[in-house]
Amino acid sequence: MRSNVIYRIFIFIRLFSTCRLQCFYVCRGQPYEIVCEIVSSPPQNNAKVAVLGASGGIGQPLSLLLKNSPLVGELSLFDIAHTPGVAADLSHIETRAHVTGYMGPDQLDAALKGCNVVVIPAGVPRKPGMTRDDLFNTNATIVATLADAVARNCPEAMICIIANPVNSTIPITSEVMKKYGVYNPNRVFGVTTLDIVRANAFVAELKGLDPARVNVPVIGGHAGKTIIPLISQATPKVEFPADQLSALTARIQDAGTEVVKAKAGAGSATLSMAYAGARFTFSVLDAMNGKDGVVECAYVRSEETECKYFSTPLLLGKHGIEKNLGLGKLSAFEENLVADAIGELKGSIKKGEDFVANMK
Ligand SMILES: NC(=O)c1ccc[n+]([C@@H]2O[C@H](COP(=O)([O-])OP(=O)(O)OC[C@H]3O[C@@H](n4cnc5c(N)ncnc54)[C@H](O)[C@@H]3O)[C@@H](O)[C@H]2O)c1
Repeated sequence: MRSNVIYRIFIFIRLFSTCRLQCFYVCRGQPYEIVCEIVSSPPQNNAKVAVLGASGGIGQPLSLLLKNSPLVGELSLFDIAHTPGVAADLSHIETRAHVTGYMGPDQLDAALKGCNVVVIPAGVPRKPGMTRDDLFNTNATIVATLADAVARNCPEAMICIIANPVNSTIPITSEVMKKYGVYNPNRVFGVTTLDIVRANAFVAELKGLDPARVNVPVIGGHAGKTIIPLISQATPKVEFPADQLSALTARIQDAGTEVVKAKAGAGSATLSMAYAGARFTFSVLDAMNGKDGVVECAYVRSEETECKYFSTPLLLGKHGIEKNLGLGKLSAFEENLVADAIGELKGSIKKGEDFVANMK
């Protein structure tokens, strides 16, 4: 008698879970077993993500990274210039995200309709000698205008603000959302990920570690002394003598200026920021898709210190911030850095809030 033949049929469907269906049937007197395996592939969803400021130094590479992700179904690119070209260019890439370009204020509402995540790198960058706060006058208006459009068109979206000064643009965004009665503090993020990325890279370099395995939480805000790396909480655990720790902390705080100087008038960090912005957006999307244990630091509405807004590690979930993980145990050195940052942060927050209160 012929031995039983087992036919295995593999069906590849993009799903989160793997399941296995088994059935037997008899054909011409012989029992056959059919095994269907539904094999999981990387998670994806159909998120619609908007990039506002998509033609800029950050906007273009950020849009490229988002276009390359299976997490993005639709990519909506808005800017006041050049978006038709950027969108046409990206749309030729053989990935599934459908790309549409929108240009000018008349097309802003259309760009935002139905968006799940809005990332905002619109605004002017620093030139040598400028602080992030020097950008306030120009960028405050840009961010307030864009936040206004988000409030009207996709109030439920996760809002990720890259535009500087982040310490003020988050209070601005929050106040604009409040004006429309749609403010959800769990969904408004100041993207500080570049500070974490830099801290990881610098610590790995000094200790000869694989940077992909290093994680240094960075708390506080996103400007100068308000950037507070928590080297004592780094994983893997690392230790530095006091003088090296001070120099490393100062380098992380001034890393943006290091790039501004090196670019000599041609702008600030764009490629590393695009990487960091994409990393943060993917974490938000992963968490929205139900992935457990997604933690990122971001500058958000906070009760952790006396500042209304403060960056700490956050557990992200389907609806944005699920839990603020707080500052954790600080070394005496880090406690001093926090104490030193509070005054400047409070000032930047008030400046943002006052700007919206005085807006016509
Ligand atoms: N959060 C961070 O860690 C971080 C890091 C680096 C830079 N930044 C900030 O990101 C911002 C952008 O930097 P960049 O280097 O891409 O600048 P860029 O000048 O190269 O690009 C800015 C883009 O914004 C567009 N824009 C201006 N006004 C707009 C509006 N009203 N609506 C839509 N788009 C508008 C411009 O046309 C331009 O394409 C700056 O404010 C910079 O300081 C933040």
